[in-house]
Amino acid sequence: MKGLILSGGKGTRLRPLTYTSAKQLVPVANKPVLFYGIEALVAAGITDIGIVVGDTHAEIRAAVGDGSKFGARVSYIEQDAPRGLAHAVLISEGFIGSDPFVMYLGDNLLNRGIVEFVEQFVKEKPAAQILLTPVPDPQMFGVAELKDGKVVRLIEKPKEPKSNLALVGVYMFGPEIFTSAKRIKPSFRNELEITDAIQDLIDRGLQVNPHLVDGWWKDTGKLEDMLEANRLILETLTPRVDGTVDAASRIDGTVVIEAGAIVENSVIRGPAIIGPGARIRNAYIGPFTSIGKDVEIHHSEVEHSIVLEGSLIHDLDVRVADSLIGRGVKIHRLPLKPSAHRFMLGDNSEVWIRW
Ligand code: G1P
Repeated sequence: MKGLILSGGKGTRLRPLTYTSAKQLVPVANKPVLFYGIEALVAAGITDIGIVVGDTHAEIRAAVGDGSKFGARVSYIEQDAPRGLAHAVLISEGFIGSDPFVMYLGDNLLNRGIVEFVEQFVKEKPAAQILLTPVPDPQMFGVAELKDGKVVRLIEKPKEPKSNLALVGVYMFGPEIFTSAKRIKPSFRNELEITDAIQDLIDRGLQVNPHLVDGWWKDTGKLEDMLEANRLILETLTPRVDGTVDAASRIDGTVVIEAGAIVENSVIRGPAIIGPGARIRNAYIGPFTSIGKDVEIHHSEVEHSIVLEGSLIHDLDVRVADSLIGRGVKIHRLPLKPSAHRFMLGDNSEVWIRW
């Protein structure tokens, strides 16, 4: 069995971060989202993995390498433009051959992994096995209609969804999917939809088995989802202090402090992670916060946020919350007149000032 991870796409809903970084490399609890997917495949015994990459291929290659650090062998498949998930399957035919495979969307997170799902697929050998979960906004996803436990219809982003069961971004296929991916036409968004290709399997009378996900699933495509995924992962960490914490500081709850981090006269209330080389001084780090490598937080309070590598937050009089802060960002107070907000923001940045 092989693995196919899709790691192209433009990540428009995570701009400006995705101007300079692939959305699959934005970290959740200080680890790129994509790595959770690779680890889930490896945990299910799938070590021969193809990663479909687009414009951000160089960065993905630099982060993942040949896969050996995950115990996997990774090949890269280049997609010239985001032409859809079924298109990604088509260009991967050479890599997959006639093996069954798991297709995993690189920005998806599943807390229970995929071991059970793979076992069921191997036992039942359908043409496809899909994962489903109820969602409050099914029109944002591919939606499945079931009858007597069988999939009768799949529609991509239906305006009037017939059910609340969304297709989770993890699929299992036999080689029949290649024929179906060749038979379908581009959708309303001009993409070859995997949802349509699976519907084609059903139309051809082939078996498509649904599998309901128990546990949580997150598609980390936008800010709220990133923060939620961060929350869910931080809760699963095992506390550990490898950095330096002085006697004037207090660490409460599930907190990881990586080697080389320094915490002085501060309160860290978990679940939280403080990355290697970070310096936290006279500060408060509240629950559900991931502080990246070499970040500096001085005389400030941060909670329910993700702060990426090398950023600094100094001397703020209002707590930072619900925020996703990119790499090398500086937020500080200016002791000069006029007393004003001063911004130097990238395209499509968004700032919310306290009312
Ligand atoms: C894609 C699929 C959709 C699925 C979703 C899961 O949507 O087309 O069927 O429900 O992933 O994350 P997209 O992220 O391309 O909008």
